[in-house]
Amino acid sequence: MGQTMAGKLLVFEGVEGCGKSTQLKQLHGALEQSDRLQQLQRQGLIPQVLVTREPGGTELGLGLRQLLLGYHGGAPMASRAELLLYAADRAQHVEELIKPALARGYWVLCDRYTDSTVAYQGYGRGLDLALIDQLNQVATGGLEPDLTLWLKLDAATGLARTRQRGAADRMEQADLAFHQRVQQGFETLAAQHPDRIVAIDAAADVGAVAADIFTVIDRYLQQWYAPSLMA
Ligand code: TMP
Repeated sequence: MGQTMAGKLLVFEGVEGCGKSTQLKQLHGALEQSDRLQQLQRQGLIPQVLVTREPGGTELGLGLRQLLLGYHGGAPMASRAELLLYAADRAQHVEELIKPALARGYWVLCDRYTDSTVAYQGYGRGLDLALIDQLNQVATGGLEPDLTLWLKLDAATGLARTRQRGAADRMEQADLAFHQRVQQGFETLAAQHPDRIVAIDAAADVGAVAADIFTVIDRYLQQWYAPSLMA
């Protein structure tokens, strides 16, 4: 019963330009139309599906996002300062928004979470992976995603997509080798956590990727809420 009453944390991850944000919106829309979700909502389960992101899911986080992605005068941001700002954003986000929403039984769809810190600050910037795990633990209080959808795309293809969108932010502006290390980080994480990370081929067109994602999510909906769906 506890399992079916609790909310779920679903995270989208991937390199720049992998289409996470678009796919998150598509999934949100598809879920609203889903008969299975509506059936669960009539039973008082999953009262709401909430979409959020890191960095920037709270008021404080919005300020931190500007600091992290914008350009400012002075010396370049030190990697450890960057790491701590992402951690601060996450600590506030988990405390203010994610945990209370999960306690109410909501589904939280989150654009990036702890794996991004491992991939970007660990593999990308080369910071100590054990330190990052510790910081992620502090920031989240140990809250892990129930499911992570990793939109798998070659780093060069993703970067080319973002460059078509216009001016690159501070992270996007890093060189290709950095983004390739980030991609390697996601590869490694997926191999280490096959229990919670599902790879989705993000090179396909938007509709095909959305269909793949919905198939995965529908399978988990059935698995997690089987007793209620049979009622
Ligand atoms: P996005 O929300 O548009 O994907 O931008 C967020 C940027 O921040 C993206 O370049 C990835 C980066 N990032 C990190 O480097 N570490 C983190 O922990 C998170 C959450 C994001």
